[in-house]
Amino acid sequence: MKFIHLKNVDSTSTFLKRNYLKYKNFTFVSADCQTNGHGRMGRVWHSEPKNNLLFSVLIKDKTLINKYGFLSLASASVILSVLYKLKINDVSIKWPNDVFVKGKKIAGVLLESISKDSELEVLVLGVGINVNQTQFTNDLIHPATSLCIESKKKYSIQRIKRIIYKNFLKMFKDIKKGNQTYLSIAKNNNFLLNKEVFAEIGKEKKLVKVIGINDDNSLKILVDGIEKSLFAGEITFHL
Ligand code: BTN
Repeated sequence: MKFIHLKNVDSTSTFLKRNYLKYKNFTFVSADCQTNGHGRMGRVWHSEPKNNLLFSVLIKDKTLINKYGFLSLASASVILSVLYKLKINDVSIKWPNDVFVKGKKIAGVLLESISKDSELEVLVLGVGINVNQTQFTNDLIHPATSLCIESKKKYSIQRIKRIIYKNFLKMFKDIKKGNQTYLSIAKNNNFLLNKEVFAEIGKEKKLVKVIGINDDNSLKILVDGIEKSLFAGEITFHL
């Protein structure tokens, strides 16, 4: 385990991908400010300097690397549990990696990997949690919110970071032991449940109904009345 804090960096995830040979398993890198923070699908991750929790963890543990498919959802479940303990109400998970409060995005998870000889060598798990920021740009796909907006109080980023790191380390240990709690949390707090949404299946955009999350972490959907599993891809809302 190692904890690094940077004042300024392009992206905590890019930093770890650049330096993964130098650092050991479970190196956590946080930053006050990212100049090139990114999210899934190449989107920009906006964050005001010093107002939010931005960090990435380097994962070299082979058992965890093999659970690749489960880590995003489990991370979202950990964030949900922490927010719940901080008395933030109506928290849910938008499969596979977003944490929502009342339909607004409060946190996102981005899992990236580096492969060598077509085998996964390391994972970089990047997390952004909106803490004290109260103004967000309008070009975001989903409206954003923060802990401060939801509870009307300011938080110590340091304190949130300590709690989150502790719970992430516990999650890594639990997953290695085969603990299924995180999957149950995601199943029980599934923002998309019973919603009709547009899903990208192959190159097609289809209107589907979400009916659950499967034990293999895929999304259970109905496409033209037929049950299917969605493993990756983008889900957009039907307006
Ligand atoms: C998403 O919702 O698409 C995922 C967002 C992940 C953002 C975090 S902030 C810390 C780390 N560094 C990055 O550049 N991205 C992740």
